[in-house]
Parts: sequence; C-alpha cells; structure tokens
Amino acid sequence: MKANNLVNSHNEWDELEEIIVGSARLARVPEKDKGIVAASVGGGYDYFDPDISEFFPEYILQETEEDIDNFTSELKKLNIKVRRPEDISINNFSTPDWHCDSFFPYCPRDVLLTVGNSIIETPNLFRSRYFETIAYKETLIEFMQSGARWISAPKPRLLDHGYNIQDKAQLSLNNHEPVFDAANVIRAGRDLFYLVSDSGNRLGMQWLQNAVGHDYTVHELSPSIYSSVHIDSTLSFLRPGLLLANPARVNEDNIPDILKKWEIIYAPKMTEYSYSDIKPSSSKWLGMNLLMLSPTLAVVDKHQTELIKLLEKRGIDVLPTLLRHGRTLGGGFHCITLDVRRKGKLESYF
Ligand code: NVA
Repeated sequence: MKANNLVNSHNEWDELEEIIVGSARLARVPEKDKGIVAASVGGGYDYFDPDISEFFPEYILQETEEDIDNFTSELKKLNIKVRRPEDISINNFSTPDWHCDSFFPYCPRDVLLTVGNSIIETPNLFRSRYFETIAYKETLIEFMQSGARWISAPKPRLLDHGYNIQDKAQLSLNNHEPVFDAANVIRAGRDLFYLVSDSGNRLGMQWLQNAVGHDYTVHELSPSIYSSVHIDSTLSFLRPGLLLANPARVNEDNIPDILKKWEIIYAPKMTEYSYSDIKPSSSKWLGMNLLMLSPTLAVVDKHQTELIKLLEKRGIDVLPTLLRHGRTLGGGFHCITLDVRRKGKLESYF
C-alpha cells in the first residue's frame, strides 16, 4: 500500500479515520422500476410509500439533513474525516434497454464496497441506481490517485427477465448476470460474507470472489437467513469474536458454521417510532443498523435503548444518535455511510 493511500478498510470495526456520509438533499421518490417492484414483492411491502410520488415532503429532507449534520459533527469531534456526495441530480436516463428516472445518494453503503485498499462500484439491483456513483466521482478519482484500487463491476443489463415477480417461492432476482448491492456484504478481514437474496445473486458472489482474488474467501449467507434486501439489519460484526444477530431471522440452522466460532448475541426488541405518516421502506430491524467507530464505540439509533444497554454490557460505548426518517428513506447509520479508511490491516479472524 502507498503510504498516503486514502482507502484502507478491512472489516466493520477497526478504528475509523475517514468516512463518506450520504445525503438526503436531493432525495426524490423514484419511479417503480422493475428492481423496486421485485424488491417490494420479495420483501412483502412497498419499497416506497405508494401514496407519495416524485418528492418526499420537504420537512423529511430538512430534518434528515439536520440529523446528518449533527451526526457528522460528532464524527468530526472524534477526528474522523467526513466526505459527502456531490449535489448532482441524476434524473431521466436510459440504457439501450430501458428508461428510468432517479434515485438519490443517501446510502453509499449500497453502491460502493471497500475491501482493503480496493473500492468497488457494485452492479446494483435497482435500475434507478444505475448512475448513482457519479455523485462520488471526484472522491473516487482522489482515492485512486492516492493509490487505491478503484474498480467497477460490469454494468448489468437489468432486463425484465432478470427479475422474478411472479413466483413468490423464488427470489425476486434471477441469476442471469452478476447483480448485487454492496450492502449484501459484510467484512471480517480475509473472510467476506455475502447474502444471496433479492438484492444479490450467486453470479454476483462469483464476480466478487474473482475480483478480490485469493487473499479472500467470500462465504455465502443463505437466503433462508433473510431473502430480502441487504444484510445489515440482520447481522453486524461488533469486534473480532462477537456478532450481533437479528433474532427474527438468524438461528442455529441457517447461520454458516464458520460464524458459529464467534459468540452470537441476539438483538433485543426494537423500539418502533415514527416522525411522519409515510409508510416505511425498511423494517423495524433498521434499529440494529449500527456503525462501529472502533471495537469499543458504536453509533446507534438513540431510540434503541435496550440494544444500547446490551452493547454497553459487552464493553461497547454508544453514541446514541438521531436519524428521524431512516426507515422512510431506507437507511440507518450503517447504510448511510461508507467507511473508507480504518486503522488496521488485513487479518484472519476465524
Ligand atoms: N431491508 C432491511 C433493511 C436493510 C438495511 C430491512 O427492512 O430490515
């Protein structure tokens, strides 16, 4: 690694030095592209509230920016460098196969994956997110110039037949080409864990294994753990040897043997709350979507008092933090961030 390489993050818990925090400033409700429909069918609920179209109410965006500003101020006090996406509207675009309107760069965790000194643009599920990484272009160029390995997965075609909206017994995402959201992956040094689900198929997992090479093993997390979108309201790595699991999804039978080597603690009951009438696009389990700033410090939704107590009992201090509309916009503290640089190096933890 070059001495000044800005990208170095091998796991979910090492001491954090630099992070990208997403933005709700330009958030618009995307049109229901095939990927959104498929995720909604698979998840059993509308991904975005059907009663609102095009724009989220202004107060949702303003309050979210207020919450994000407070969150980033706390990070800066800890000497963590914070970057934000550029305010670029990426609306009304086409590929040779389809036309789509827009998404918004609220969750960098879904479109970019940091693996060591590499930063990977992933081949995402929603057509509306096809060009989302444009909002990070200048940052990615700077990372590359500092020595990072910047790669982008082959752009998927995302044709209609790539989605399965009819047969509810099957995943909503077919296995015709590599497709996955970066948030289907959680990292523990040389071992990466990839959820096969409505937002990540097996070809995507194979592409990732090829891209990261022999230094890493990509382990499959079965859709029987969670078949819908993203892993980070289901499993969180807290520090070497300790993981937090969602009791409604994870059990002895579906967790891979390798993870049984670690102690598994189950999240307590989530506190449900709402600051608007808009139907949420994430489950209550977004409350366990936490961000580790170090092995002994976590950013957690301040309403999740039981979870906070559980973590504190395990020697993890908590920064209780507010993100009032996380479930409406579809992202908690892990989703809306991308850790770019943490202290520490590539290690094996199993
Ligand atoms: N789709 C997940 C949230 C992922 C961060 C859930 O609703 O639980």
